[in-house]
Amino acid sequence: MSWTREDLQELVKSKLAGRLFIVVSNREPYVHVSSGDEIQCVVPASGLTVALDPMMRACGGVWVAHGSGNADREMVDEKNRVLVPPDERSYSLRRIWLTAEEEEGYYLGFSNEALWPLCHVAYTPPSFDEADWNTYKRVNQLFADAVLDEVGDKQAFVFIQDYHLALLSRLIKAKNPEVVTAQFWHIPWPNSEVFRICPWGEELLDGLLGNDLLGFHIGYHCDNFLETVSRTLESKIDYERSVVSRGGGATLVRPFPISVDFDRIAQDAAGRGVTEEMERIRRKWGLNDEYIGVGVDRVDYTKGIPHRFWALDKFLAKYPEYQGRVVFFQLAEPSRTHIRKYMELNLEIDDLIEEVNWRYQSGRWKPIIYIKEHLSPIAVAAFHRLAHFCVVSSLHDGMNLVAKEFVSSRVDEDGVLMLSRFTGAARELTDALLLNPYAIDRFADTIKEAIEMPKRQRQAMMRKLRQNVQQNNIYQWAGSIISELSGLGL
Ligand code: G6P
Repeated sequence: MSWTREDLQELVKSKLAGRLFIVVSNREPYVHVSSGDEIQCVVPASGLTVALDPMMRACGGVWVAHGSGNADREMVDEKNRVLVPPDERSYSLRRIWLTAEEEEGYYLGFSNEALWPLCHVAYTPPSFDEADWNTYKRVNQLFADAVLDEVGDKQAFVFIQDYHLALLSRLIKAKNPEVVTAQFWHIPWPNSEVFRICPWGEELLDGLLGNDLLGFHIGYHCDNFLETVSRTLESKIDYERSVVSRGGGATLVRPFPISVDFDRIAQDAAGRGVTEEMERIRRKWGLNDEYIGVGVDRVDYTKGIPHRFWALDKFLAKYPEYQGRVVFFQLAEPSRTHIRKYMELNLEIDDLIEEVNWRYQSGRWKPIIYIKEHLSPIAVAAFHRLAHFCVVSSLHDGMNLVAKEFVSSRVDEDGVLMLSRFTGAARELTDALLLNPYAIDRFADTIKEAIEMPKRQRQAMMRKLRQNVQQNNIYQWAGSIISELSGLGL
């Protein structure tokens, strides 16, 4: 039996016992943008928001996040709240406003030029800037003030997301120690050798230990965290129970592999909208019986995007019989484009695609089709369904939900998932073709293996993958966190 939205609602009712439920993240689940005279509501490309939105639809409550859309202010009431999702209006989104300078120091600077590369260890070095760090602290305080305002004199459970808000729980509890907080760290946690270069490591760890519960995707990240704490801070660690005690408080540290809303994705993928879109794509790109590969990523240096093109290049050179017969669609969502490393990566990818296409193209055929724009979930599902193989080649990833979305959308029980060993998802999705994105020759051979895999084998693997994601879905993830909290005497 897999967890449903109704199961989660029941659990919340019984375990949260009337407490106000507040989620906090940097990225908002719905962004209002104006194009011409119209205001559109856009769902951003973020694993985090994709995963948490179904939970909030089920639980209700308030989601506090940075209002980043250019029409966001036009949509809120005097408390900066708007009801979302637009089709359901089941919870409130409370927006926080940041100045350009705050966004630069806290989001682009400390979060994404220091913490992101520090934790991913994808051979892009972090840079630490004191002014960014000070802005990060100030913005964490702004989030804390908004949360405290929402809590008022109610009993509340605050569920904090990710590396943008490492100091939040301490700041909330300094004003209101009654609030129960849990935090989920959506990216990897590195080992202590790596972490120790951060000049403000102690403050970050102390901030995170303000939580009653701290979750990572996999046990390995929990172990790294505990080891980092033991080498950096005065504290008592009970390894048996995975609890860190410090300054009178205790933090339970546990793995909770995040997931997706399997049933909803599967239902949408089987719908008419997606089948019509598949037809449209076939017509637009003149597809006949080519083998279709697909990659869906934010343009980020952790995703190993150049690596998959190097592998494709090798594959076409080594197995020339496939020239003209394979088309790889790379769907790319521009991301953090104001950061220099991301600008460089964009240029590198453009050049590489041009080079590979130039080397092999003939007539109307070229091996890589690059679609760099925000696509609707229906369009992404259509590409997933058309694909013979989907490539996830992250150099390091906390989980990677694209892998789980691909599997969920394959209602036809076909298609091969090629998945980097260095994703959290690879620990669960062991029936994928696992690969090392740095080993380009073998990666090229894995593309061949995916293309030549007999249908029966493909189906057997996909069936097992689907059972896994269906079982370990997003409701199960949220349910385990809430059950764990209630075990703490919530
Ligand atoms: C990762 C992070 C999320 C973030 C997402 C998109 O998945 O863990 O917190 O929302 O990337 O990145 P962005 O910077 O656009 O929010």
